[in-house]
Amino acid sequence: MIRFWKSSGTRFRLHQGYGGQAVPAPSAPLWSPDDPVGGFLDLLPENHSIIRNLAISPSRAKYAANRHRRRAIPACRPSPIDADPPRRLTFPPICAKNRAVNVAGKHYRTIWLESPGCVRIIDQARLPHEFAFLDLRTTADMCAAIRDMNLRGAGLIGCAAAWGLYLSACLHAGQPNWHARLQTDSDALLATRPTARNLEWALHRMQRALAACATPGDRLETARAEAQAITDEDAEFSRRMGQHGVALLREIAARNNGQPVNVLTHCNAGWLAFVDHGTALAPVYAAHNAGLPVHVWVDETRPRNQGASLTAWELGHHGVPHTLIPDNAGGHLMQHGMVDIVLVGCDRCTAAGDVANKIGTYLKALAARDNGVPFYAILPSSTLDWSIRDGVKEIVIEQRGADEVTHVPGWNEAAGKPATVRICPAGTPAANYGFDVTPARLVTGLITERGIAPATREGLLALYPERHADG
Ligand code: MRU
Repeated sequence: MIRFWKSSGTRFRLHQGYGGQAVPAPSAPLWSPDDPVGGFLDLLPENHSIIRNLAISPSRAKYAANRHRRRAIPACRPSPIDADPPRRLTFPPICAKNRAVNVAGKHYRTIWLESPGCVRIIDQARLPHEFAFLDLRTTADMCAAIRDMNLRGAGLIGCAAAWGLYLSACLHAGQPNWHARLQTDSDALLATRPTARNLEWALHRMQRALAACATPGDRLETARAEAQAITDEDAEFSRRMGQHGVALLREIAARNNGQPVNVLTHCNAGWLAFVDHGTALAPVYAAHNAGLPVHVWVDETRPRNQGASLTAWELGHHGVPHTLIPDNAGGHLMQHGMVDIVLVGCDRCTAAGDVANKIGTYLKALAARDNGVPFYAILPSSTLDWSIRDGVKEIVIEQRGADEVTHVPGWNEAAGKPATVRICPAGTPAANYGFDVTPARLVTGLITERGIAPATREGLLALYPERHADG
């Protein structure tokens, strides 16, 4: 059953579930201070320093857990930018100082374990018009949700794949053919979308964890714990990328004499594309929460309108000043000095620093190079593909249905419901490439959870020395 809350202005009101009965308010799907934090937490310096792998000691783990506990206490006060936004917002200003991203003042993750055997997600196919949840109970449910883009974004589909194998364990861990079933379900999840590296990375990690489990109970608990660890790590790595990236925005702010830092981002690489914080938008949220004046030019208005429907939605709900622009406007803005920095996400990054991202990213990078605007891609290590060098030749580019080009979905104001319209003559042939590859030579730097590196093999290996054998 789908349960959802319908967005009405800035309020969320209880709506009917599909089954006809009213559903209760969503129980806290939120990050809990007791969530396992894994062994990767450390005291992160707020600069670009390279973070090496750190073994975590028991006392450090305790400190880290306490640190999380402290961060769990909301501290919502208007920041200076909320008090005097450079442009009028259609949403109430919301501050989430030291917190992750909010929707109407409440913190959400994009995916969570709602109850044993039930994974709940924010249904992104309904945004921005309806804020809805979708409950998934089988691996087939999860495959459909990934394929139909009820959830999407490189990091999030990796986590979703991990939860997909947890659902497989819930239903099949006790069966004699468990290993064959695990492989079949893993293959089905892998086949949903080809470009983002995170999907296969998460499946391999789950399979490695499950390989040694001998009993049904062990399989189930291991699947749950590993999927949760992948999810928590995604959120924590995004937070770290935000801390590294905000240093760049601080430098620009210092030069801008109090004028907002103008960021251009393409598509949605915010918290909706991950578990929390996001990648391209993580430094923006960190800057906004710290009171730095920041403004975002939001694009990707075709083919899927994810800038319009997702990025504008999440920035608006968090109170970050932003302006929606058509995809073709970026070059013009750069020529006129209206963009300080381009921050984009990434779906797969090669060992040489080539970046696959939403179609149209390459054109932004060309315009940025022509106008001397720094262009950064932000990605966690789960997006790095150490097995390939030449991104243009080797990265598989997803092609999606032609209807995403020939038709545009939206909201029919008069009828008060979603509508889709055709924008070309009936039967017009259309091509729909989902991603393109920006060659490393156009990328100023890569921001990862370990710091900022030049987009080169050497730069990446300096951050990930343990990959020397594959790099
Ligand atoms: O097709 P999607 O929505 O799953 O693609 C992912 C994206 O939104 C973008 O390419 C994004 O910039 C990188 S993923 C965080």
